[in-house]
Amino acid sequence: MASSAANLEDVPSVDLMTELLRRMKCSTKPDKRLILVGPPGSGKGTQSPIIKDEYCLCHLATGDMLRAAVAAKTPLGIKAKEAMETGQLVSDDLVVGIIDEAIKKPSCQKGFILDGFPRTVVQAEKLDEMLQKQGAKIDKVLNFAIDDAILEERITGRWVHPSSGRTYHTKYAPPKVPGVDDVSGEALIQRKDDTAEVLKSRLEAFHRQTEPVIDYYGKKGAVANIHAEKPPKEVTTEVLKVLSS
Ligand code: AP5
Repeated sequence: MASSAANLEDVPSVDLMTELLRRMKCSTKPDKRLILVGPPGSGKGTQSPIIKDEYCLCHLATGDMLRAAVAAKTPLGIKAKEAMETGQLVSDDLVVGIIDEAIKKPSCQKGFILDGFPRTVVQAEKLDEMLQKQGAKIDKVLNFAIDDAILEERITGRWVHPSSGRTYHTKYAPPKVPGVDDVSGEALIQRKDDTAEVLKSRLEAFHRQTEPVIDYYGKKGAVANIHAEKPPKEVTTEVLKVLSS
């Protein structure tokens, strides 16, 4: 207790005030449990941080979590690596385990954004079971609907800052300096699976295994369709309108 008080004394006033204001804003926001579903490059990762800040939710992206595990060569990462690099889905058991643990974190207290999960009907059923145990349920599933033909340009032009997850696009969202993260000044990278060739497998997996998930939640009346082919700001406006209704 004494040490955390001492640490607080070291925090600049402006940071304390910013955090206080954030907490006050968050206390007025309703809890939300959201799923973002859509093909690779449809904009889930671009919109998630905006929704997260607006509603004070945690952002759980199974792709980011798996990539971190692959980079750290953990047992989970070793099992997931080959499937990810060839555009296949990793096994349901692996990702269900990650999410089961993650949604219990304190940062998910006001709810969560699941980005890239569930991707199979089995994952959706397991998620429902987890939430039932907590007396909770999914509030909304945002379906990022977009034509496949638009996605190759989005995927092959994407650059990411691995440690923050910030995403850029050479044409649609360029960094101030090519190849460099605007905030940290660190190098940007391209993902190994962001090639036209691997995209074909990823899209095939989406249509065969993930589209049934949209039907699964459609039957529960939870799906809202988003016009994901529009420019990013217009997509944001549509998403926030859907979430406020
Ligand atoms: P994952 O990391 O989840 O990849 P994904 O679903 O293929 O999604 P992306 O991250 O590619 O696309 P996004 O929709 O987030 O697009 P973004 O916003 O960046 O999964 C990777 C792999 O992990 C899977 O293949 C699988 O192996 C494994 N995996 C993960 N979850 C799993 C699960 N649950 N079960 C089993 N396996 C799992 O946008 C793309 C680009 O377009 C960016 O450059 C962006 O700047 C730009 N852009 C975004 N919006 C717009 C716009 N409106 N207009 C113009 N440009 C835009």
